[in-house]
Amino acid sequence: MFEKLQKAPLDKIFKLLAEYRADERTDKIDLGIGVYKDKNGNTPIMSSVRKAEKQIFDEATTKTYIGVSGNRGFCDAIADLVFDNSVDGSRISSVQAPGGTGSIWVLLQVIKRARPNGKIWISDPSWPNHYPMCQLAGLEPNYYPYFDHETGKVKFDEMLACLDGLSEEDTVLLHGCCHNPTGANLTNDQWDKVAQSLKRTGAFPFVDLAYLGFGEGLEQDAYGLRKLASTQPEMMLAFSASKNFGLYRERAGVAFCIGKDQLAADIAFSQMGNVVRASYSQPPDHGAEIVRVILNDKDLRKEWEGEVKEVRERVKYLRKKLANAIRERSNSSDFDFIVEHSGMFSLLGLTLEQVNELKKQSAIYMLDDSRISIAGIPEEKIAQMADALIKITR
Ligand code: LMR
Repeated sequence: MFEKLQKAPLDKIFKLLAEYRADERTDKIDLGIGVYKDKNGNTPIMSSVRKAEKQIFDEATTKTYIGVSGNRGFCDAIADLVFDNSVDGSRISSVQAPGGTGSIWVLLQVIKRARPNGKIWISDPSWPNHYPMCQLAGLEPNYYPYFDHETGKVKFDEMLACLDGLSEEDTVLLHGCCHNPTGANLTNDQWDKVAQSLKRTGAFPFVDLAYLGFGEGLEQDAYGLRKLASTQPEMMLAFSASKNFGLYRERAGVAFCIGKDQLAADIAFSQMGNVVRASYSQPPDHGAEIVRVILNDKDLRKEWEGEVKEVRERVKYLRKKLANAIRERSNSSDFDFIVEHSGMFSLLGLTLEQVNELKKQSAIYMLDDSRISIAGIPEEKIAQMADALIKITR
């Protein structure tokens, strides 16, 4: 049977990671996958996570099934963290899912059931997995204008003009904060305008929230999604705890539906549960339980907030350091946009040829579209990176 198929393309992020791991050069630099690295180049287990894990290890009494909708304490704690009081709790329903991707998957299935011929709009560009996920779910993906490669900023007027032309059959996928891959984000005022546009056209908002707290702060990063939650009759949100709790491999996420009333939320809940059961039956619990413990313990929560702040500040510091190093060496402000961006990534605006040359000549690995993971920059190699970038762009 399998010979009837062809080899499927590898996801470009994981393909790059494999290439990087196979490179034997000792001065290689990995700016590919979105994983935070500390100043020693490690992706550490957060101290709050270790403490919660220890508590779970000491106190847990069973590994029996938890149920299709997953760890309720985890989902409720994330609902509070994300939405705060922006929407009446009776309108929110949630299921735990394996990471942000698993959450997006569950929600796309529900959209497909509700709008079998609906279109979904994703930002140009977007996280490389959004497009194939929509396709696999049977939804037709389209792009709305987003990033201006010339200025390194959001092309907001074009984006808004596109959104203004949508209808009730359309779904708009928005990055809650820390846009991936560009690092260019909407201002609060622009979020307000997006909310007004969606309200006017009836297009359905779907927020992907994978980096809460890594941009400007846990509260500040929630501005846009809370604006939507408080103004739109319905919406969806996929939350990931992979980055902000450093739980990558544990796969902890939540799929949220906000309905116009409690009945609509209950229907959405049953639909999500039905998708989960037929897809993978139940989500894994360990990562979710860690998050539940942290968010429900005053001291651990405070410690975690401090750890998120540390990551955020380090990423900002690395942005400044890289932009300064390039400016000092080149006497040009061409890469100053790196400081204006926020979150884990920036899109540098290099050609594919330049990206390949950087890999070949300098062992610097970034995605084909020149997305770099700022959170992965080794500080001691910033000068080396700046020299290589200047050389390649001259
Ligand atoms: C990334 O964009 O690098 C991360 O979100 C990791 C992933 O799953 O793609």
